[in-house]
Amino acid sequence: MAKKITVPEIRALKTNGRKVAFITCYDYTSATIVEKSDIEMILVGDSLGMTMLGYDGTVGVTVDDIIHHGKAVRRGAPTTFIIGDMPFGSYNESIQQAIHNATRFMTEFGADAIKLEGGVRSAAAVKAIVEAGVPVCGHIGLTPQISSNMGGFKVQGKSMDAANMLLRDAKAIEEAGAFMLMIEGVPATVSKYIRDNINIPVVGIGAGPGCEMQALIMHDMLGFYDWVPKFAKKYANLGPEMLEAFNEYHKDIVEEKFPTTEYSYNTKVEGLE
Ligand code: KIV
Repeated sequence: MAKKITVPEIRALKTNGRKVAFITCYDYTSATIVEKSDIEMILVGDSLGMTMLGYDGTVGVTVDDIIHHGKAVRRGAPTTFIIGDMPFGSYNESIQQAIHNATRFMTEFGADAIKLEGGVRSAAAVKAIVEAGVPVCGHIGLTPQISSNMGGFKVQGKSMDAANMLLRDAKAIEEAGAFMLMIEGVPATVSKYIRDNINIPVVGIGAGPGCEMQALIMHDMLGFYDWVPKFAKKYANLGPEMLEAFNEYHKDIVEEKFPTTEYSYNTKVEGLE
């Protein structure tokens, strides 16, 4: 892992053509491996509700959940840029609540920045958090925290009007002071349209190739699940590999093939030869 990427270096992606990879991560062991890899950025995402806790969506995730997992990730990845995801209900009650929770991510697990969902509707919270000294990544398009309003996890921005609404959201987040913007689940042409019309770098997830950065959910890209969304490339097939390992282990036990002397402490104990 190279030296930690910085906020000014992320801002510079807008013009210098460098591409950056972003991955979700929720635990110490995985974080140690991301830290050794070339991936520049980690998101302790509220997707941990699904990947770690078995929820149907992200809504039940709390600030304390993100901090709990964030602490483990920070211990595993001390020099990786980490963004903490503000969960549902943690930034819309009041400006004070938004600043308080964003600040907790910085002080309690050493986040480098926070991310929150929403365009125009979240601009006031973004502005206040940025003014409190916390770097903010916006998140527009398919925003899972309000996916029930969207009729589920559906591609957004499918008409010119909808694309222009997203651009309005993107500009509101830029003007509020965010240093980068996530765009999720939109046609590739739409993310490029937005990218070309704002001055902060864009990270896409399910948003095609026209973004300065790309993000994936770790569990999707490692192949833990049979089904993954269309945009998620599987770079490994760990689900089936783990299943095979578990079953081989079980078979070894049943057939008394494990542990052999190779896996035993063979110290001679006097009286027990
Ligand atoms: O919580 C999350 O994992 C996200 C993804 C869209 C990257 O926000």
